[in-house]
Amino acid sequence: MFSQIIGVLALAGASTAASLQRHDFPASNVTVLSLDKNYNSTGGEGHVAIGGVLSPFGSIGAGCGVNWDNGVAYGGGLQAGSDAFGLGGGFKITPTTLEVGTGFGINPSNSSADVTFTGHTNGTFQLRFSSSSPFACVPSNEEGSNVVVCTTS
Ligand SMILES: *[C@@H]1O[C@H](CO)[C@@H](O)[C@H](O)[C@H]1NC(C)=O
Ligand SMILES: *[C@@H]1O[C@H](CO)[C@@H](O)[C@H](O)[C@H]1NC(C)=O
Ligand SMILES: *[C@@H]1O[C@H](CO)[C@@H](O)[C@H](O)[C@H]1NC(C)=O
Ligand SMILES: *[C@@H]1O[C@H](CO)[C@@H](O)[C@H](O)[C@H]1NC(C)=O
Repeated sequence: MFSQIIGVLALAGASTAASLQRHDFPASNVTVLSLDKNYNSTGGEGHVAIGGVLSPFGSIGAGCGVNWDNGVAYGGGLQAGSDAFGLGGGFKITPTTLEVGTGFGINPSNSSADVTFTGHTNGTFQLRFSSSSPFACVPSNEEGSNVVVCTTS
């Protein structure tokens, strides 16, 4: 699954900004590059990926997939990319844990951030945020929910 989705991202990165007329608004040629499923009675995966040129973004790629494995886990992932932004993430659910991770890239400034969440059936969980840029977080309480908002300076 991921190799095909990463292939889409490679395609998205293949056309550099220089090779695209930013204000030319070429006709879109985004197509579904793959739409597959592969499974048996115990496990498998399904995914869809798109790619091509889309005005005004330039080359874009996006894909997502799900997978499952009886007695082990189920989960999925998504990826998207263009000249400006990149996004990749995935989740995995086992009988006792939920794991979610997402990475964000802002290409013009070379900045990136990652968020991971891990939760357990015993009620404990952790949220982790990391960033290439300095940021500050403000904790608060909104209508009974504990909230933290982190913003780059
Ligand atoms: C079903 O697919 C999974 C994942 O590809 C594989 O590990 C497993 O051996 C397969 N089981 C059968 C019965 O073919
Ligand atoms: C879309 O057009 C670009 C620029 O001509 C080309 O490089 C790319 O391969 C095309 N993509 C598809 C999916 O046809
Ligand atoms: C981003 O990184 C690239 C490659 O390292 C570099 O050429 C470019 O100048 C950087 N841009 C910024 C805004 O830092
Ligand atoms: C909850 O479960 C996780 C994963 O098994 C474990 O690491 C953690 O210590 C547990 N915490 C408590 C309070 O039971």
